Amino acid sequence: MRILVIHGPNLNMLVKRDKATYGEKTLDEIDALVKKEAQALSVEAVTFQSNHEGALVDFIQEQADSARGVVINPGALTHYGFALLDALIDSKLPIIEVHLSNIYRREEWRARSVIAPITRGQISGLGWRGYIAALQVLVAELKAEASRAGS
Ligand code: DQA
Repeated sequence: MRILVIHGPNLNMLVKRDKATYGEKTLDEIDALVKKEAQALSVEAVTFQSNHEGALVDFIQEQADSARGVVINPGALTHYGFALLDALIDSKLPIIEVHLSNIYRREEWRARSVIAPITRGQISGLGWRGYIAALQVLVAELKAEASRAGS
């Protein structure tokens, strides 16, 4: 089972960004932890980051057919990324949205996610562990759905 773990703009700069807001781990460290958890869950996590909305759209279009779900931190595209939103809708994949920071405790414009309405759920403000929790929940739900479909 392949799960896409996608990071949007500026998330390649973690550690150089405000550590009090975004935590102390690099994106590579987070991706390594996500892949380790994926291995423990017997699934494959395919990680991808881009600063460009079109590159994120291309990646989703290319990967959707071979994947079963998406964990995504869209970065600032969360708040206005309609092309990204459409690509996620078109993928027809179940999606969990993750934010390192609590977007509801920050500037008002961050409290609106255009992505959230099409997700199964959102984890916001739990740092890098939010990615791990999102992966665990998504995989558990997919496994439960597969076993219900098979029984
Ligand atoms: C973020 C929150 C966004 O508002 C911001 O633009 C980011 C990161 C988060 O992980 O907390 O780049 O998605």
